[in-house]
Amino acid sequence: MQRFVDKVVIVTGAGSGIGEATARRFSEEGACVVLAGDRRAPLARVAGELDPERTLFKVADVSRFADVQALVAAAVKAFGGLDVLVNNAGIAPEGDVTKVRPDAWARTLAVNAGGVFHGSRAAMPHLVKRRGCIVNTASVSGLGGDWSLAAYNASKGAVVQLTRAMALDHGKDGVRVNAVCPSLTITPMTEDIKGDRRQMAKFRERIPLGRPAQPAEIAAAIAFLASDDASFITGVCLPVDGGVTASNGQPAMG
Ligand SMILES: NC(=O)c1ccc[n+]([C@@H]2O[C@H](COP(=O)([O-])OP(=O)(O)OC[C@H]3O[C@@H](n4cnc5c(N)ncnc54)[C@H](O)[C@@H]3O)[C@@H](O)[C@H]2O)c1
Repeated sequence: MQRFVDKVVIVTGAGSGIGEATARRFSEEGACVVLAGDRRAPLARVAGELDPERTLFKVADVSRFADVQALVAAAVKAFGGLDVLVNNAGIAPEGDVTKVRPDAWARTLAVNAGGVFHGSRAAMPHLVKRRGCIVNTASVSGLGGDWSLAAYNASKGAVVQLTRAMALDHGKDGVRVNAVCPSLTITPMTEDIKGDRRQMAKFRERIPLGRPAQPAEIAAAIAFLASDDASFITGVCLPVDGGVTASNGQPAMG
């Protein structure tokens, strides 16, 4: 498929995991891709494997609006406009409200929810010009609660609701706004879980498809939502979760 030829796409958190897979997918489908993230080395590694004519990377901390404004300006300057923004960068500190330190709470909200706000605010005028779209990486953790992920749950709940609010506000401008809500996906963020056999067994039991996702499977859903195949889809927070949210939470029988 070559759905993104002549399209310009920004992916945040593109140096690893879901963001890396997403940048690769858009590039494979012909897009000009701007990879953003808070660390230079991983971005340079991924960008170095993509077509240099259609690839740019820029270090930007999504919690800082000035960084994100500069990122969007660089994309528009390099490639002449912007069609797709993927707000994907995120962090996931563990802890219930008694364990999460106030600075970690603030940082989590600033990166996960603030990053989506900053990216969307900076990109919107350009997206309106090209009738473009936004895809946010929310989480099943924005649809229901987890044990010991209080700050993360709050931040992803905010992403889900911001996705819906922006879809309402900007539909009239021709800008679609959607989110993907992955469950456990094998990335650097979930390295600890992957290494813990007991924990992995518990996850497998709760995932109807019986396994975690690979980053490319989340990237495929992001690319679908960003493509013309989804031209009448906006305000959707799509679980890409192997069936996890099909459950009401009760245990399996037998
Ligand atoms: N892995 C999972 O199980 C899972 C499940 C649901 C949702 N998600 C979400 O997917 C997204 C991608 O996570 P991942 O699993 O690929 O993990 P990851 O740690 O590989 O990717 C996160 C990326 O964001 C970047 N980043 C972190 N803080 C940043 C900041 N302030 N500014 C710019 N970039 C920053 C990191 O450098 C990293 O490349 C996150 O939003 C995460 O919450 C992950």
